[in-house]
Amino acid sequence: MADSTKVYRASTTAPVNIAVVKYWGKRDTKLNLPTNSSLSVTLSQADLRTLTTASCSASYSDGDNLTLNGEASDVSGARTQACFRELRTLRASAELADPSLPKLSQMPLRIASENNFPTAAGLASSAAGFAALVRAIANLYELRESPTELSIIARQGSGSACRSLFGGYVAWRMGSLADGSDSLAVQLAEASHWPEMRALILIVSTAKKGVSSTSGMQQTVATSGLFKERISAVVPSHMDAMEEAIDQKDFAKFADVAMRDSNSFHATCADTYPPIFYMNDVSRAAIRAVELVNREAGRTVAAYTFDAGPNAVIYHLEKDKDLILGAFKSVVGGVDGWKAEDTEDAATAEASKIST
Ligand code: ADP
Ligand code: DP6
Ligand code: CO
Repeated sequence: MADSTKVYRASTTAPVNIAVVKYWGKRDTKLNLPTNSSLSVTLSQADLRTLTTASCSASYSDGDNLTLNGEASDVSGARTQACFRELRTLRASAELADPSLPKLSQMPLRIASENNFPTAAGLASSAAGFAALVRAIANLYELRESPTELSIIARQGSGSACRSLFGGYVAWRMGSLADGSDSLAVQLAEASHWPEMRALILIVSTAKKGVSSTSGMQQTVATSGLFKERISAVVPSHMDAMEEAIDQKDFAKFADVAMRDSNSFHATCADTYPPIFYMNDVSRAAIRAVELVNREAGRTVAAYTFDAGPNAVIYHLEKDKDLILGAFKSVVGGVDGWKAEDTEDAATAEASKIST
């Protein structure tokens, strides 16, 4: 006899990932299929992470709900619904195969999620957020699907989220099938492949961005001519070069491609009509600081990249840490919120079991 008051619960954390070849553009807005492949580095969860608890119970009478940073958040959006639906379908087939399993797929879900960093400010909150949501529910349902299979579901929540299911260096292959079953994330290399890699995060603003990534990229696809060149020529060559740079642990090449790709992405934003500006004066000062430190060092020691927001991520190697910190202190004075991040394997994220 099923206990109708029993609450099943699982928690997980998920890391942020910062793309060095950016996803920007959807070819299918319903399934969240991208116009180009992308590549990212997953950051350590020691500083930036989402913590999500998923629970379900036959006693929950208010339907599915989600709290984000302590406030009620809408779950009726098509993308959250797609994640819930796909995960429930997988659980329902497991329940069909083993009738002794409790019918969790039929119970309302409660999701409580906290980001310990600014939400919707260009620091990939949607990536960590949807990766954590999908993994928490997958843990709750005791699903056996691989991270790549879960990446197909997380992608439907937020494109960049598919890459946060892995640590280290991750590619999102755009795929070509209409149903999206080959638009998924794969790990190219573990963080331990290049253990000297670091990311310094310059929090320029914690404010919510004026144009969300979802809306911004749709405006770009609809109005930018430069965007066509980006997806047909620029990104394919950046993907190849970046994969080689990572494979060869060639920091100068990694940095060159990362900076060019960030510039190319922000150029398509400026070419969107009306134009979208995510970077501000402090962001541009950070770019100049990187140029200066590289010139003074006589070699490439730092690479900047900016997502859809003003906050800078500076990739560098551990051995150059003091040089980088010094360069930024003197050039971008008075900005708070410095955080030194290590890269780390996301596979170490805690996976809880169902409990009462
Ligand atoms: P960002 O640059 O931070 O990824 P986006 O515009 O891509 O910004 O997405 C921000 C949106 O992602 C938020 O408004 C919210 O809807 C969703 N989001 C952020 N964090 C979470 C979370 N922890 N759980 C669920 N959804 C989240
Ligand atoms: C600039 O994944 O946030 O950070 O799929 O609409 O949720 P949606 O967009 P999102 O876009 C991320 C854009 C980017 C580049 C990247 O992370 O690859
Ligand atoms: Co996002």
